[in-house]
Formats: sequence, structure tokens, C-alpha cells
Amino acid sequence: MTIKTKLSNLSIVLFLIVCASLTNHGHSAKAQDDQIPAAAHELLQSQIVQQKACTTCHTISNQGGTVGPILNQIGNRRSPDWLTKWLKDPNAVKLGTKMPNFRFNDADIEELVGYFQRMKRVIPTDQIFAEATSPEDAGEKLFKAYDCYACHKIGDRGRIIGPDLTWVGKRKTQEWERVWLKDPPAYKPDTFMPNFHLSDREIEALSSFLHTLQGQHNDAGRQEEALFQFFLGGGAKQRGQFVFERFACWSCHGEGGHGGIKNPNAYTEEEEYIGEVPPLDEVTNLMEPDEIREIVINGAIPEKNDSDGENPPYACPEWGDSITEDELNDLIIYLESLAPPKPQFQLVE
Ligand code: HEC
Ligand code: HEC
Ligand code: HEC
Repeated sequence: MTIKTKLSNLSIVLFLIVCASLTNHGHSAKAQDDQIPAAAHELLQSQIVQQKACTTCHTISNQGGTVGPILNQIGNRRSPDWLTKWLKDPNAVKLGTKMPNFRFNDADIEELVGYFQRMKRVIPTDQIFAEATSPEDAGEKLFKAYDCYACHKIGDRGRIIGPDLTWVGKRKTQEWERVWLKDPPAYKPDTFMPNFHLSDREIEALSSFLHTLQGQHNDAGRQEEALFQFFLGGGAKQRGQFVFERFACWSCHGEGGHGGIKNPNAYTEEEEYIGEVPPLDEVTNLMEPDEIREIVINGAIPEKNDSDGENPPYACPEWGDSITEDELNDLIIYLESLAPPKPQFQLVE
């Protein structure tokens, strides 16, 4: 065996180790076994899951990929009706989803929904409150117990189906969190976040925990991205996308920066975006890089459209202390990649 093939074998092994650790987000992400319902282990062994390779995208019972939500506690958050609709045609529930339509027959759907219903856990709320040292601590324990990590990331743990929550305490107020957690689809009808039917006491604890998230886990997220980059490459645009996701710019500027997030009574110069957070998918054609830098560093509070009306709920946070110069440069390269090419004048010979 030549040195070269030895090296490439070594890098393949390293690559697999990294993939495995990224998949599970290290030991910290391994769910406690007592948190994984027995039906999750059974689902993992089932013929349907094996044949359709659901674990390329989903983690089930500590095994699988990071593209989709962790499914261990799916029965806690989705009704049998919702799950049946989802399996019949995911794209009809969430337009543009990466989940394929497997064209299941009714018997397969019934079998899968049967597993999902049993993948439910009794949340030990009373015990959590009895053992917690503070409302924030209770909130953190509830966050784990409800497996909010199935769709959300904090630092290097969790998934990014919903916004990364590493900085959520900086961009949203606790009052806003309370309203949101009470009933997400009531606040935003097309949201993919389910209603967990939380009690007021649980909402109070969860919102106070979320409010403590002011970037203290940022380095863990950053290191994980660096590891990813080291093995998988991707360059400045990919790094910029990681930054966009870690700071969850999309939680206000819409998925992929495409806008569409309501911001009642906000004024913008462009008439079509009045009452909304401006999209970012063409911002590099409209603003110079230095103007964009300035907003990201110092933040921006939108003017009111009707001066007697309410303050718009969202303002662009000030990220100056949190974001590095390199991250800012990568972010701008990522934003440029979203924009359609600027019209070019051709030289006529
Ligand atoms: C190519 C990736 C991919 C594959 C393969 C895949 N899914 Fe999904 N699935 C997703 C994504 C992504 C979502 C979340 C919706 C979104 O963000 O678009 C999802 C969502 C779900 C949900 C809802 C989760 C929740 O928390 O609400 C269920 C249930 C589900 N998938 C089951 C399955 C099953 C069962 C299989 C195998 C038969 C499977 N998926 C295969 C990508 C995939
Ligand atoms: C099935 C996936 C899923 C699960 C599970 C989930 N969320 Fe979400 N969450 C989302 C999505 C998607 C959004 C983005 C809302 C939107 O714009 O549609 C979101 C938004 C949020 C936000 C606002 C974030 C921001 O940056 O503004 C908070 C806070 C939140 N979720 C908390 C929670 C908590 C707490 C739990 C557990 C009780 C939870 N989520 C479970 C998908 C999920
Ligand atoms: C809490 C919601 C929120 C978050 C999170 C957020 N923004 Fe903003 N952003 C806004 C609002 C609201 C405006 C409009 C401000 C105004 O009208 O002056 C804005 C404006 C901007 C603008 C100017 C756009 C224009 O067309 O005028 C840029 C650029 C921008 N944000 C970039 C970012 C980036 C990059 C991130 C992530 C690092 C981010 N924003 C995160 C709410 C947010």
C-alpha cells in the first residue's frame, strides 16, 4: 500500500468519524435512553424505515442524519391526522420540503403512524419543577424533555429545521416568546412549528430560559462549523451560510432571505414591503457592502408607517460585539450568492 492510499484511507476514516460526530453532535447530543420511547427503537428496525432509508435524513433512536427533525418524540407534537397527511404528500403540507413523497400505500401509512403515536413520552413536568433550582433551569429541562432540539440548535447541539436559538435572547423579547409558545400556528399560520399545548407555567419557564440564550454557546457552534468546513470544504459562501444560520437572520428575513415575515406598522422605502421585514435576497444589489456591514454591526430600528400606530415588533439587532470581521465578510459573500446577477453592460467591439 502506497503512502498516498494510506493517507486517503485515513482521511476517509476521519471523515466518517467526523460525520458520525456531526450527526450526533458529539456525546452532548446523545439523547438519554430513558428519553427515547421503545417504539423509536422498533421503528428503526422496521422494514419500511430500512427500505426507504429514512435515517439518511432523520435521527431515530440516536442513529441517522441531520437534514430532518429528530423523530424520537414525534408522537408528542403531531396528531395522527397530521402525520397521515404528511406521509401522503409532504409537499402539500410544507411547500418545497426536502422530504420526498414515497407514495406509500394506506397499509404502510397506518403502520408508520402506529409507531409515531407510540413514540410519545410522558413529560414529567411536576418533577421538573420540583427539582429545578430556578425558572430558567426548569425551562432548560423542559426544552430537553419536549425535545425542542429535534428542530432547534443551541451551540453545537440539535437541528436547524427551526431557527438556531443560540442568540434568540438577543433578537426576541420574553413577551414575544410567551405569545409564540402559546400557539405558533395562531401567530403564523404557515409555520412548521407545532403547538405543544404548553401550560402557562411551562411557557413562563421556557421563555425565561430562552431569554438567557445570548450567545454563550456561540463558540461551540462556530467550532463545529470549522470542523465541518475542514473536512467537507465549501469556501466563503458556505461559511457565510453558517453565519446566516447561527445568527438566524432568517428568523426575521424569511427562509433563504426571501422575506415574507410580517412586521406590523414598519415603514420601508419599497412600498411592497411596508408592514414586513425587508427581504435580503437582493440586498447586495441595492446596498453597498459597507452599508450592509454598518447595519449588521449597529442594528436598525424601522420607522413607523403610521406615526400614531404601535412600534413594529422587530428591529435588526446590533451584532457588533458578537460577529467577527471574517464572519461579516463571509456573510456578505453568502448574501451576494442569493442575489440575481446585476445587469452587465457589454463592450461592443
Ligand atoms: C431527503 C431527506 C429526507 C428523507 C429521506 C426523509 N425525510 Fe422526513 N423530513 C425531512 C425534512 C427536511 C423534514 C422537515 C420538513 C422540512 O423542513 O422541510 C421531514 C419531516 C418529517 C416528519 C415530520 C417531523 C416533525 O417533527 O414534524 C416525519 C414524521 C417524517 N419526516 C418521517 C419520515 C419517514 C418515516 C421517512 C422514511 C420513510 C422520512 N421522513 C424520510 C427529510 C427527509
Ligand atoms: C418540528 C420542528 C419544531 C419543533 C419540534 C420545535 N420548533 Fe420551534 N420553530 C420551528 C420553526 C420552523 C420555527 C420558525 C418559525 C417560522 O418562521 O415559521 C420555530 C420558531 C421558534 C422560535 C422563534 C425563534 C426565533 O428565532 O425567532 C422559538 C423561540 C421556538 N421555536 C421555540 C421552540 C421550543 C421551546 C420548542 C419545544 C417546546 C420548539 N420550538 C420545538 C420548528 C420547531
Ligand atoms: C429580530 C429580527 C431581525 C433579525 C434576527 C435580523 N434582522 Fe436584519 N432587519 C430587521 C428589520 C426589522 C430590518 C429593517 C430595519 C429598518 O427598516 O431600518 C432589518 C434590516 C436589515 C438590512 C437592511 C435591509 C434593507 O433592505 O434595508 C440588512 C442588510 C439586514 N437587516 C441584515 C441582517 C443580517 C445579516 C442578519 C443576521 C446576522 C439580520 N439582519 C438579522 C430585523 C432583523
